[in-house]
Amino acid sequence: MTRPTVVTMPGDGIGAIVLPEALKVLDAVECEADYVHADIGWEFWKSEGNPLPERTIDLLREHKLGLFGAITSKPKNETGVELSPELQDQGLVYFSPIVAMRQLFNLDICIRPCRSFEGNLLNFVRQTAGGGFEEPPVDVVVFRQNTEGLYCGIQWTNPPSEVREALASHPKYKPFAEIPSADLAMAIRLFTRNACQRILQSAFEYAATYGYSSVTVCEKPNVLRETSGMMEEEARRIHENFPDIQLWSTNIDAQMMWLTKNPEDYGVIVSGNLFGDIVSDAFAGLVGGLGFACSGNIGDDVAVFEPTHGSAPKYVDLDPSIVNPIAMILSAAMMLDHMNESKKATRIRAAVSSVVIEGRVRTYDMMRIPGGSKSIGQGAATTQQMTEAIIEALD
Ligand code: NAI
Ligand code: MG
Repeated sequence: MTRPTVVTMPGDGIGAIVLPEALKVLDAVECEADYVHADIGWEFWKSEGNPLPERTIDLLREHKLGLFGAITSKPKNETGVELSPELQDQGLVYFSPIVAMRQLFNLDICIRPCRSFEGNLLNFVRQTAGGGFEEPPVDVVVFRQNTEGLYCGIQWTNPPSEVREALASHPKYKPFAEIPSADLAMAIRLFTRNACQRILQSAFEYAATYGYSSVTVCEKPNVLRETSGMMEEEARRIHENFPDIQLWSTNIDAQMMWLTKNPEDYGVIVSGNLFGDIVSDAFAGLVGGLGFACSGNIGDDVAVFEPTHGSAPKYVDLDPSIVNPIAMILSAAMMLDHMNESKKATRIRAAVSSVVIEGRVRTYDMMRIPGGSKSIGQGAATTQQMTEAIIEALD
């Protein structure tokens, strides 16, 4: 087999801090890969008017494997003013480069494991009837449809008249028909049968491979009858090929309540794009939060792995850095799984696990203290110390 090349995209803010830490860990397990840097993010929006430069797309197309840190996106009213002066009048419109990357390469399967590490102070605990506490282990893997749904990008404020005419053919449009266009904002929730089938098929295959007893479709079919309904219909169909796995269905709102009641009952969860984003953050909150939340964006051809956290601008200038590199390191471990290097991935996860359980090295977030210049004085580890501890714990 040819030696793979990983396209490394640190991006903005702490993306550029945590990605090099993951590379140190990949080196420590002797990951057989070369690395090539690629530009992405706000800096390139400001200087080139394009946060996802063509040269980055070319590298991903060539090497098919990416490791991504995080990007900064700013609100609509701030995007134009930060453009370099010579680009100001060109009518450039900012877009999220990570959403664009997912769509461009059809990275439609987003996998977000949410597993508690024993000994993590941030783990979910529950009061028992007798007045004590218990800490149910959480082992949930969210499969988020990554390219369509409410994130398909078809949205307007002040929709054009053709759109309004088309909508007028729907009986439910009547109450909105007289509202001035300037006062109307809308976004389309678009599901395709093919994408529903693909996310469900990979979720069931994952459950079968890794021994999960249930797949839960988490949508809202009683209200979103067409879109959520299509996901549920396809789930029932695909389930026929996996008789040993139970198929459950929950509504997103009820799921958000149940997840703090009985999180240990869930295994693989499948959702559309927005609900998948929400439910994966919610489960991540039960197992350590953003410092632990890793993910993979997987298409037929290209795959990109990233922590789900953003660029955390308020921590970027702290020296030494205090942010938690574990989410990035666990994302690199997911990349190893994808490269059929599961032994190395397992070694990394075991090392993280033993550092967490030992409890000697903890970043500020793991100590439940505020992040800032005082964190280290209060006993928090630096980003680099956490990486070193993980490397030391590798067996
Ligand atoms: P964020 O994820 O950057 O930060 C949320 C909170 O978690 C902050 O308190 C932050 O300091 C903390 N945090 C994040 N990562 C951490 C880590 N590794 N260790 C310790 N603490 C950590 O989200 P926020 O504040 O909503 O957005 C900041 C910027 O990031 C925005 O420009 C946003 O658009 C962007 N963003 C980018 C994402 C991506 O690149 N995939 C995802 C989410 C946000
Ligand atoms: Mg999110």
